[in-house]
Amino acid sequence: MARPLKIAFLISGRGSNMDKLLDLCAARPDQLEAVLVAADRPAAGLARAAARNIATRILTPADFGGRRPGQEQALLEAIKAARADWVFLAGYMAILSAELLDQLAGRVINIHPSLLPHFKGLDTHQRALAAGHRQHGLSVHLVTAGMDEGPVILQAAVPVDDADTPDRLAARVLAAEHLCYPAVLAALADRHLSLDQGVVWHPAAQLPDPAAAGLLWLSKGPRAAEDHG
Ligand code: GRF
Repeated sequence: MARPLKIAFLISGRGSNMDKLLDLCAARPDQLEAVLVAADRPAAGLARAAARNIATRILTPADFGGRRPGQEQALLEAIKAARADWVFLAGYMAILSAELLDQLAGRVINIHPSLLPHFKGLDTHQRALAAGHRQHGLSVHLVTAGMDEGPVILQAAVPVDDADTPDRLAARVLAAEHLCYPAVLAALADRHLSLDQGVVWHPAAQLPDPAAAGLLWLSKGPRAAEDHG
């Protein structure tokens, strides 16, 4: 049997997506091994990772004289020392340099709370409401040097309610994130998703039922932009 996939996680804060991914690793030890949780600042999620006996690191730019390249080099060394096969960003608030991504050979995945290419960057929920969009959602994507620009692995749409505030909408999108991000990791573990030459889903891949999850739709890969608004 193939050895477990080794996964490293990068966080900057709360770490609720990290928790869901670590739950999956704990449930499937034959296929998944969480080898590292690293943060670029003191992050609430670190203590919960440590409580699960997962190696944790805080590597702040300040530790390296305020220099991102020094911080990234240390991060790379930690990821390599942990022998991670994949790096999952879970609320990591720094942009990874092209040099670092090169070293990680395209094996970095992120979740972003919008239907990319809409609303790259921050404050996505507020911006979706201000733009009058009737559907918002999330994208899981491969990380490339352009911010929130890499190939989409999965997208799921959350309907916008008339009564939504940014926080109210964010809570529903986050609940969808908690279903969808583990589904991507599970598909990788099952070898139902290959990312070495573009995004290739195996037909047998199991995804959450959009109806049961209160989603408008869930798509393997990017959904056409005209379907978004
Ligand atoms: C999530 O909304 C994620 O999509 C975005 O940052 C947030 C992180 O939340 N990248 P958490 O730290 O996983 O709770």
